[in-house]
Parts: sequence; C-alpha cells; structure tokens
Amino acid sequence: MDRWLRRLRGRGSGDRRVTHPGGTRRIDLLGADEIGEGEMRMAWVDGGASPVLVVRVGGVLRATQGTCSHEYFELDRGFLTRGSLTCPLHMSRFDLASGEALDPPAELPLAVYPVVVENGRILIEVPEGPLELNED
Ligand code: FES
Repeated sequence: MDRWLRRLRGRGSGDRRVTHPGGTRRIDLLGADEIGEGEMRMAWVDGGASPVLVVRVGGVLRATQGTCSHEYFELDRGFLTRGSLTCPLHMSRFDLASGEALDPPAELPLAVYPVVVENGRILIEVPEGPLELNED
C-alpha cells in the first residue's frame, strides 16, 4: 500500500481538519454584531502589532491584512466596491476573496485569513507564529 493511501486510511472518517506543522491559533477580532453589511473594521491583534481588516459584504465575513501590500497604509480608510477593496493612496484594488491585486501599482496580494464565527465573535484561524503579511 502506498504511503498516501495508508495516511488516508489512518484518519477518522470525518477528519477534514488541516493542520500546520507548528499548529494553529485562533485570534478573536471583534463581535459579529459590531460590523454591519457593507462595512469594514480594523482589529489590532498581537498586542496591537498587527492590524487585521474585517469586511462584511454580501453577508460574507472576510479578513485580510490591515495594511496595503504596496506601501504602509491602513486599509480601513479605503472603500469597498463589488467584492473589491480600493486602497485610496494609489488606487490599487484588491479582490476580497483571494486578496489578489487587481490594479497597479500594488503587485502582491493581501494576505487573507480564514474566518470563523463562534459564540457571536469573529475569529481568524492562522498558523502559529507571526501573521502572514505581504509587503512590496
Ligand atoms: S499604498 Fe495602497 S496602492 Fe499604494
């Protein structure tokens, strides 16, 4: 039996959990009732060192790095348009689902963090260690 099959059979039938070698952590960002449809809020995590932008569009909550990937600029001062976020400093747009930069001058995508809503709180589940952050 090859290694892949052995690993698959070794799992419990309902086990779809993705694990990272160093483990994961959940970070509490804000209350689900603190952000309405079409709004965005910045949450400062890791002792205020890392900004995370929380956006609710079309009933879907998303979380991305809080600063632009082009230059340091806090994205809660940007604006939302149909599934994208525009950084007002140089007008690059970013896809909210993938983080992809849709217009220059930004080239790198925004880091996008998986969102979990639990007990009325919005959390992200990320690998242990520093939050992923893309900067030019
Ligand atoms: S700082 Fe955001 S596009 Fe330049």
